[in-house]
Amino acid sequence: MILDGKACSEQRLEILRDEIDESGLSPHLATVIVGSDPASQMYVRMKHRACERVHIGSVGIELTADATTEKVIASVRQLNEDPEIDGILVQLPLPRQVETGRVIKAVRPDKDVDGYHPVNLGLLFSATPRFAPCTPRGIMTLLAANRIPVAGKHAVILGRSVDVGRPMAALLLNADATVTVCHSKTRNLADVTRQADILVSSVGKAHFVTAGMVKKGAVVIDVGINQLNGKLVGDVDFAAVSSIASAITPVPGGVGPMTIATLMENTFQAAKERACGSVW
Ligand SMILES: NC(=O)c1ccc[n+]([C@@H]2O[C@H](COP(=O)([O-])OP(=O)(O)OC[C@H]3O[C@@H](n4cnc5c(N)ncnc54)[C@H](OP(=O)(O)O)[C@@H]3O)[C@@H](O)[C@H]2O)c1
Repeated sequence: MILDGKACSEQRLEILRDEIDESGLSPHLATVIVGSDPASQMYVRMKHRACERVHIGSVGIELTADATTEKVIASVRQLNEDPEIDGILVQLPLPRQVETGRVIKAVRPDKDVDGYHPVNLGLLFSATPRFAPCTPRGIMTLLAANRIPVAGKHAVILGRSVDVGRPMAALLLNADATVTVCHSKTRNLADVTRQADILVSSVGKAHFVTAGMVKKGAVVIDVGINQLNGKLVGDVDFAAVSSIASAITPVPGGVGPMTIATLMENTFQAAKERACGSVW
């Protein structure tokens, strides 16, 4: 089975647009981009386009590549105080001179729709999530939409980054999976990955996951976005692994679209929580 993230995200966006229209709310997302990295600009454009589709208002703050940490934080603080804005997304990565951790901590947790603020990560790891990071939460949605059971399964995650691997582990654990997280120091990697009922790869290396690393019938989720010979590919050798896996995400058209749909869902959630005066 191909886990079609594009189709799933289209469905989610349609449902969300109807929910927003019926709610009478007017959610707003603000994006902050620093510099003119083409990939970051493309991601921000895609997020604004998704906002339009679901009737979320959006504003974009653009800062020059030489912006200081203080300048980025000042923009974030302005958005924190703006009553029109429900969600704030700072596009990562930030230029080297900007202290990413300080910028993320400056975002008000109740507007942190990216889910990276330590308060939101702490809530996620305490099994009481408010905003979970969009990529791993989108993967959970994709699994649920395809009726793939998680409870009791052995999930192996390749990668331990704060934006993907770690929150993925927390979400799968919260859903009663038995979770193993692997990284560059993991020994006998293929022995570990071959035990996975659900294998999530977020390494960022083209064709890193080969057929010999996957158990027959496993569910394989490919988070990686890599360039190979001018083509966009994931971490997984799709041609070889798709004949072994019971279900697999393609790249492109798998995890990526789910990330954007989840950002929209998080923004509507933020608007609803603010409208009813939810306590943080
Ligand atoms: N589709 C989407 O929406 C989406 C969203 C976010 C990211 N991505 C993509 O996902 C990929 C990963 O992103 P990221 O931000 O998590 O990357 P990252 O911060 O670079 O993390 C990569 C992880 O892979 C581990 N790793 C590297 N080489 C390894 C090896 N030989 N064996 C086992 N583990 C190894 C690293 O281990 P150490 O910690 O030991 O260094 C690290 O934990 C990238 O291609 C990125 O573009 C896609």
